[in-house]
Amino acid sequence: MRGRTLARLLLGGLLGWLAGRADDAADAVPPPAAAMPAARPARRLWLLALGTLLLLGTAGASGAAFMQRQQDAELARAITGGEPDRAPALLIRYGCGGCHAIPGVPGADGRVAAPLAKLRERVYVGGVTRNTADNLVAWIVDPRALSPRSAMPVTGITPAEARDVAAYLYAR
Ligand code: HEC
Repeated sequence: MRGRTLARLLLGGLLGWLAGRADDAADAVPPPAAAMPAARPARRLWLLALGTLLLLGTAGASGAAFMQRQQDAELARAITGGEPDRAPALLIRYGCGGCHAIPGVPGADGRVAAPLAKLRERVYVGGVTRNTADNLVAWIVDPRALSPRSAMPVTGITPAEARDVAAYLYAR
């Protein structure tokens, strides 16, 4: 007997709750028809504004990155007297990428020696000589003149070409 009473109570509660919900739905005031079309364009405007801002932000950021690269290259030219734009072809021709990973040079992914990245942040070149433009050029031309036991070979690169390479390495 007690089981059936409990079931009836539960059923009653459930039905009551459902009826209440139906009433709530009926009571809810529908929004005035005029409110709907007004809300849509406003939201679209916001999206448009957001999209424009994002676009401007991206353009601004890549513009700033471009300016920074130009400035880095200009500084590297001034320091070394070399032309960084000529370097990638030289780095490929003299096989530097076979031993060094070099950012921005296709196929230069050697693991024999340290990556040639952020060279202007180094204190020493080859661990033996101060990191100046002339020393870097000298190292690239003839590492064994500075460090006789260095595993880096003389590649045959000329001093003028080494200057272009040094400019490239300082520009990034
Ligand atoms: C056969 C492998 C090999 C080749 C090819 C090679 N290098 Fe190296 N390079 C090395 C090794 C090994 C070192 C580290 C030498 C040391 O510390 O004695 C080194 C060091 C350097 C350094 C000094 C880096 C530092 O962290 O101080 C520079 C700059 C450099 N190489 C540039 C070049 C350039 C430019 C070329 C191409 C013209 C080149 N290397 C070709 C093996 C190579």
